[in-house]
Amino acid sequence: MKSIKAASYFVHFKEKGYQELSALINEKNYSSIYILVDENTMEYCYPKFIPHLETDKRIEVIEIESGEINKNLETCIGVWQAITELGADRKSLIITLGGGVITDLGGFVASCFKRGIDFVNIPTTLLSIVDASVGGKTGVDLGVLKNQVGLFANPQMVLIDENYLTTVTEREIKSGMAEIIKYGVTYDMKLFNEINNRKELTLSNLIYRSIQIKNEVVLQDPKENSLRKILNFGHTIGHAIESFYLESENKENLTHGEAIAIGMICESYISTKLLDFPDNKLRQIKETVLSIYDSIALDKNDFSAIIDLLKHDKKNVNGQVNFVLLNDFEDYKLDCKVTEYLIVESLEYYNL
Ligand code: GLY
Repeated sequence: MKSIKAASYFVHFKEKGYQELSALINEKNYSSIYILVDENTMEYCYPKFIPHLETDKRIEVIEIESGEINKNLETCIGVWQAITELGADRKSLIITLGGGVITDLGGFVASCFKRGIDFVNIPTTLLSIVDASVGGKTGVDLGVLKNQVGLFANPQMVLIDENYLTTVTEREIKSGMAEIIKYGVTYDMKLFNEINNRKELTLSNLIYRSIQIKNEVVLQDPKENSLRKILNFGHTIGHAIESFYLESENKENLTHGEAIAIGMICESYISTKLLDFPDNKLRQIKETVLSIYDSIALDKNDFSAIIDLLKHDKKNVNGQVNFVLLNDFEDYKLDCKVTEYLIVESLEYYNL
């Protein structure tokens, strides 16, 4: 697969990726290498990764606990302390080997450590392959507020190897599908149709096209002043739902994709009410999403708590919640204001 050129780095695939990584390490002459993993990627991905790494540099493994609940500043402090004790300096390299928590947190840790050291992303889940590892967003959550603290920082390279997907559950693979649907709906109808037809569909094709789209969008608007906001489609309501389930002790957490899938249905519904998004396309999105994800019965009593969480969305300006809505497939309107009443109606529509 042809490497994809991002702003200041390349996304490389498979064998070429490993060759480029070894070349990078030798070229930059790093003093030491820190591989950031969680207990799962340590057990299942690290053994697949390490034989590919051709270097005589000192390698240390830093393991953190898996899960969104650990994507916070306390974990960062632990990593900063660990690498400090191990003698990391400005010429050290961090390699993130894991899902979105590892790549987001690892990129943030690297970008703040001694005012910034190099990092390389090796995403191991579908979600981090098609979204988190590309585009330069790094950061951690603050309490249940997702990605509240972070910065834009580009990796030295991203290495995509689908082989790591054999290490994750079906549920985790599905979690990444929501982002692929999002790319289809907002940017590339052909991709959306391919997801529906499922005939010529290979995961490799979906991954490659998704990364191309993400990269095209980010190249045009790296700091999310305009176009990049389309990547938030479904995420305004979706993040609030994800946070709500994360903080509810008596409810099982949703994966990011499960929450965003609900958010996309709700925000498509709102698009039919506030813009000209056609009803039949709303139905198509709902059908596609529900062909992949089980429907979750949202409790009406939880709606006000979900809406409260929306008010903390980091995309808000002057206390106003900003939505990306659809005029049509591939045709969006940014910064839309939506009443609470309509948000509730959209949650009810999802439940129907
Ligand atoms: N995940 C959305 C973005 O990278 O902009």
